[in-house]
Amino acid sequence: MSYKGYAYINTIGCQMNVYDSEKLAGILNAYGFEMTDEMDKADIVVCNTCSIRHKAEEKAFSFLGRFAREKKKRPNLIIVMAGCVAQQEGKKAFSRVPHLDIVLGTQAFSRFGQHLSALESGKTQIVDIAESDVIFEAMPESTLAQREISDASCDGGNKISKFITIMQGCDNYCTYCVVPYVRGRERSRNHSAIVDEIKLLAQGGVREITLLGQNVNSYGVKEEGISFPQLLEKVSCVEGIARIRFATSHPKDLSMELIHVIRDNDKVCNHLHLPVQSGSNRILKKMNRGYTRETYIERIQALKSACPGIGLSTDIIVGFPDEGAEDFNDTMELLREVEFDSIFAFAYSDRSSAPAAKFTGQIAEKEKMIRLNQLLELQDVYTEKKNNALVGKPLEVLVEGESQKLHDGFLKTSDKMQQMTGRSASNKVVHFPSENSAIGDLVTIQIENAYPHSLWGYLLGVEKK
Ligand code: 5AD
Ligand code: SF4
Repeated sequence: MSYKGYAYINTIGCQMNVYDSEKLAGILNAYGFEMTDEMDKADIVVCNTCSIRHKAEEKAFSFLGRFAREKKKRPNLIIVMAGCVAQQEGKKAFSRVPHLDIVLGTQAFSRFGQHLSALESGKTQIVDIAESDVIFEAMPESTLAQREISDASCDGGNKISKFITIMQGCDNYCTYCVVPYVRGRERSRNHSAIVDEIKLLAQGGVREITLLGQNVNSYGVKEEGISFPQLLEKVSCVEGIARIRFATSHPKDLSMELIHVIRDNDKVCNHLHLPVQSGSNRILKKMNRGYTRETYIERIQALKSACPGIGLSTDIIVGFPDEGAEDFNDTMELLREVEFDSIFAFAYSDRSSAPAAKFTGQIAEKEKMIRLNQLLELQDVYTEKKNNALVGKPLEVLVEGESQKLHDGFLKTSDKMQQMTGRSASNKVVHFPSENSAIGDLVTIQIENAYPHSLWGYLLGVEKK
């Protein structure tokens, strides 16, 4: 393929977008582009967008808008809007960003190469938002090459831990959520394709895999293939893979079978991200979540008793339409009852394609912010409590890289030794003086200090990869 110049990808949004950007990087590379970190040098700029909240959408438009002047100077510069906002906007995207060349929807990635050729042959303003039941499978042989290229420009380059999408779309239709409209119906990838991709990653030195889907618990159900717990077992047999994580689990579909795999399979991390969204039954019903506060708490209790020390995290939305003081208080109470290790909290953002946009009782932005801050302040108490409880205990950590921040404990011990960082199976960030550990090793750390968002300790032992 003849050399076409440099490509720059800007990824906004979730882990799935990080994975998708790697695929886009692979396609661009096969087409003759070389990835760059320097935006100004690029001959093609791709923004892989997110539309989950208004702010993310605005970020995409403002990023792409910046290229208006550059495009006038260099008409051959190619500008691409890809992903969720592209799918949502279609040709309307041109009215806000007239200098766009391609609008590439979420199910159009496999046709990206064709569109680039069409552009070269003189076609302008290409829009592809066609839906497809087929999941785009990157060529397995090119997977590794793609990852190496994309490390330069997509995810900051943690080479030992990678995301891999196992399913796309969502059929749950939570009333606030745009995903079913922009990512289409739920469909699962074939398990052999997933395992083959992971084998290649493991051969390239990847040690930790995070399996991604909007609701991994329903993996393979439609296709009548293997179940998600069975997929976890298969992935855990891949040589070289030390740890497996996954996101996201829907509380209504969390099975005892899955809880048992977390308990029994050493490679499956003792951590679960289980978005609750609200602690109020009234709001959960309006959100169409399919479970109650009580059933959610029951599942948390089952998890805690089967898997002692499990790290728990959740997503919460505050200020959903008609959320009253009592409803919000129910959410605060749920935090007190469950004691999560960490939370991701969001102010409700109106999405015009989601049903809740038409609900009455919209909450003022100012009030949403007050609730958000109250919630985060309360959670800080539990995050700290959970971290403090680990002081004096040994934790197994997968070494991810050099630590950027030097802790007081470290400065006291040595100013010569390198400080490394990694995460425990329960997803705690741990810093420690490196001694003879290297990226990808599993090390045991004696925890000495707890900070609000990380832990610090000494190395007890190293299991070389
Ligand atoms: N407003 C605010 N937060 C949202 N989320 C999804 N849709 C919205 C919305 N319209 C949050 C949910 C979800 C997470 C990925 O984003 O908490 O779990
Ligand atoms: Fe959105 Fe609900 Fe599907 Fe999650 S489960 S992607 S919140 S519709």
